[in-house]
This record gives sequence, C-alpha cells and structure tokens, in this order.
Amino acid sequence: MTNKLKYFIGNWKMFGDFGSFKIIYKITQFSKQSKTLYKKKKIILCVPNTLISPFKEKLKSKFISLGVQNCHYHQGYGSFTGSVSASMLKKAGAEYIILGHSENRSEGETNQLIKKKIISALNQKLKVIFCIGEKFYEKKRNKTFSVLRKQIKSSLEKKFNMNKIILAYEPVWSIGTNKIPKMNELKNTIRFIKNDFQKILKTKKSPVVLYGGSVNSKNIRLFSSIFEIDGFLIGGASQSSKKFIDIIRNYYK
Ligand code: 13P
Repeated sequence: MTNKLKYFIGNWKMFGDFGSFKIIYKITQFSKQSKTLYKKKKIILCVPNTLISPFKEKLKSKFISLGVQNCHYHQGYGSFTGSVSASMLKKAGAEYIILGHSENRSEGETNQLIKKKIISALNQKLKVIFCIGEKFYEKKRNKTFSVLRKQIKSSLEKKFNMNKIILAYEPVWSIGTNKIPKMNELKNTIRFIKNDFQKILKTKKSPVVLYGGSVNSKNIRLFSSIFEIDGFLIGGASQSSKKFIDIIRNYYK
C-alpha cells in the first residue's frame, strides 16, 4: 500500500440536522484509533451551511476538517436573498468548499460563474474542491476529454494558488447511480486531467485529483489499483458513519 496521502471527503448534500453530529463523532473516533493510517489519510466532511458553525464548535479534533458545498460569488455582504458568501462560511468555521458540483451546474451554474466563486473562496482562504465531469451523452460521443478541458480552462487561472485547489472528477452519469467507470478508462481520465491541468495552467505542479461517483465499501478496492487517484469524494455513503468508515477500512485492506 502506498504511503501517498489520500483524501476521503464526504459530501453530505442536503442531509443532516444537529443530531447528525454523532456521525462525525464516530468518524473522529475511528480516525484517532487508526493512527497508523492517519498519516496517510485526510478526512473532510462537507456539511450543509446550517451545521457548519455548531459542528465546528463541537468538533475538538484535528482528525477531521469541515467544509461546505457552495457559496455565492459575491464577496462579503450584499443584496442576494437567500445566499451566503464565502466570507460568511469561513467565519462560520468552514475550511473547505465544494464548487462546481454537477448538481449545481445542472441548475444553471456556468464555468464562468464557478470561476467567480473560486476566486471568492480563495480570497477567503477557503480550500476549494473543484468538481468536473462529463454527462452520459458526452461520454457516448467521446467528448469526455474536451468537456473536462473546457471546465478546467474556463474556471481556473495560472495565478490561482493551486495548493488550495483539489480537483474532483465526478462523471455525472455515475453520481447516485451505482455505476462506476471502467478502471482502465478512469485511469486514463485521471492521467489526462493531471497532464492537461499542467499544460493549461503552465505549471510543473501535479494537482490533487479525486474520484467521485457511487463510491462504496464494496467497490472501493477496485479504485485502490489506480495509483494516480489521490482520494475520493463520497456522497450518499458519507451520510452513514459505518459506510464511510468501511470505505476507508476496505481501501487500506
Ligand atoms: P454518490 O457517492 O452518492 O454517488 O455522490 C457522489 C457525489 O456527488 C459527491 O460529490
């Protein structure tokens, strides 16, 4: 097993109330107990905005970091009914933020809007988990690479602090469907993202690239064969401490 740091990031989506802290508590206990593994893994839970502040208060642990799942592009305060800015989320206790998730893209978020959000988040010293991925019909038409290239090119810039950006490759057709890519295809796609990122942003630094889409404790072993994957963005299975912990356990088996 590799010694490379691996990320296990939970995206709770629209799930959870104050009582859901018990999930985080159990994951923290597991993380503490598995200290030898701890050196190699980073656990981040991205919760709804309503929970970030109370969870931050309760979480007296260095074993888990907390994040959120979106923000408004406008910096600071403004007349944007129902919205929350990156600075408000930072003040509430978020360290990480998911941006560009396909569930938000499908509601009209464009690459340009996502770029504005990334700028706003980076200005607030939030670490960005930037999601990219192709739809099923794009995959069928062999458009995966061009879609990913466009998403990277239109939302990132060379001047951004790349140490604060994690990419998450989430094929849209794989989210919540129990369908995962073929491992040889996935390996090529992750390699493509890493190479293309370096080319587009003219950097020698290789980005952190995660995979997301129907990851569970049964299929996680398959992914461990791909050295290039730096971790996972986990949706449904992160809403249960048992499922989330089993994913990590089985990954390192
Ligand atoms: P699922 O793991 O439920 O497929 O969701 C993946 C996802 O959207 C993570 O951001």
